[in-house]
Amino acid sequence: MKIFLIGYMGSGKSTFGPKLASVLNVPFMDLDHLIETHVGLTIPQYFEHHGEAAFRNVEAELLRNITEQKASFLLSTGGGAPVFHDNMEFMNKNGITIYLEMEPQALAQRLAPVKAVRPLLRNVSDENLPDFIASKLKEREGYYKKAHLITSGLNPDAEAIASQLLNPLQ
Ligand code: S3P
Repeated sequence: MKIFLIGYMGSGKSTFGPKLASVLNVPFMDLDHLIETHVGLTIPQYFEHHGEAAFRNVEAELLRNITEQKASFLLSTGGGAPVFHDNMEFMNKNGITIYLEMEPQALAQRLAPVKAVRPLLRNVSDENLPDFIASKLKEREGYYKKAHLITSGLNPDAEAIASQLLNPLQ
């Protein structure tokens, strides 16, 4: 079973991912962490030294490597991953995609205190954050909504989603 968890920054992928992986009894992996280990830099450092285009290349390459090398996993992906290099199509073809959906306002509340470590948000003021997220989400939603399964990121139920995945006809 290969599961890809997608959604905007702050939608809860890193909190919910390990819970769902444990219910499904598959290893949990986080693409951003794998990138950090691979390049030997944190994501903000990598953006600063090499820029976003280089980051998107590494992201797409590692996504494909992991998918080919591992038989079973739940992989949490960075918020931009589905948008670049046909990654959404790749994930949909090679496994099950789950989109953790959330409103811009709720995302802004979660992200305001941690935006300094998010390269794409660090220069956005708290005041402009909800509008910035709303417009980014509009750009990205077309990709996110291609997911096999869409669920709210507010309080996702790992047991319910696991049973949907294991018994899709119910
Ligand atoms: C990004 C989201 C981040 C990380 C990078 C770019 C994005 O991951 O990949 O900072 O483009 O939305 P999280 O969604 O895990 O924060």
